[in-house]
Amino acid sequence: MLVDGFGREVSGVRVSLTDRCNFDCVYCHNEGLGDTRGPMEPGDNEMDTDDVVRFLEVAAEYDVGKVKFTGGEPMLRQDLEEMIRRTPDGMETSLTTNGTFLPGRAEELKEAGLSRVNVSQDALDPEEFAAITKSGAYDRVMEGVEAALDAGLDPVKLNMVVFTHTAGYVEGMVEHVAANSGLQLQLIEYMPELTGKPEWNIDIGRVHRWLADIADRVEEREMHDRKRYWVDGGMVEIVDPVENEDFCANCHRVRVTHEGYLKGCLNRNDDLRPMGDMTKPEIRETFEEVVHNRVPYYGEFMIKNDAGEWTFNEEYAEV
Ligand code: 5AD
Ligand code: SF4
Repeated sequence: MLVDGFGREVSGVRVSLTDRCNFDCVYCHNEGLGDTRGPMEPGDNEMDTDDVVRFLEVAAEYDVGKVKFTGGEPMLRQDLEEMIRRTPDGMETSLTTNGTFLPGRAEELKEAGLSRVNVSQDALDPEEFAAITKSGAYDRVMEGVEAALDAGLDPVKLNMVVFTHTAGYVEGMVEHVAANSGLQLQLIEYMPELTGKPEWNIDIGRVHRWLADIADRVEEREMHDRKRYWVDGGMVEIVDPVENEDFCANCHRVRVTHEGYLKGCLNRNDDLRPMGDMTKPEIRETFEEVVHNRVPYYGEFMIKNDAGEWTFNEEYAEV
């Protein structure tokens, strides 16, 4: 297994398959690449099926045990099932999707070997949903979640970004997952750095305190990046990476952009490395280099100054 200079093993990879998306969520960080949303036709710059599989084969050589396919909307790729089928044995596959294409495809994804799925769902009301995603696909998404459950994907996690627009729906969403077995809720702290709207930020500490109060059980795992709460039998996780040194200290993921660049950190764009023409030796060399250069974002790349504000660590000015 590859380990960076801060003792963080790389156990998982997140592979973006496209930056195209049929939604236009107001909070979208597009995996830290800025607003590159464009045409809905396949882009020629996207890695092809073989590129993705070759990368995963190399990752498996380094004992990477998990891959998550992301986007944009990864289900816009018609070769997703093939990629999952060709993912090396023993590597767990999961998918983060907006859910609209799950009806009709969830079954085949499961058969291809997909184990789990995260569906973005930020509201339980069609109008609110439309305001956030700029899409009228609420019913499709609800059907998609059903289809994923019926296909036996386990767990089916609902991703909800917590920010000013959604804070009022958290309670309803917690009740929703408690009432539907098979569903789990992942509350994701809004990341303002990547969207330029700091005014949408809310205090995630409030959500932690509220859940701690109503939960039957709380699980805080050492060496894990998220806290779990059980409420009426439903499981709720909070992912709170913003200004969180512990989160960064426990980050075990390397990213791959849809264009085939390795990326050591979601929050950085200065660490992108192309995998060349994607021969296995080139992929190996780049993968090792990217892991070698990985540093925790909060607590190392960004540090607190005497006034308690996060500032860029000048040590990395050359990188
Ligand atoms: N802050 C937090 N989470 C975000 N996501 C997208 N943009 C942001 C942001 N600015 C999450 C969505 C989606 C996942 C891929 O990334 O929840 O499910
Ligand atoms: Fe961004 Fe995902 Fe929303 Fe598409 S569905 S706009 S990729 S957050």
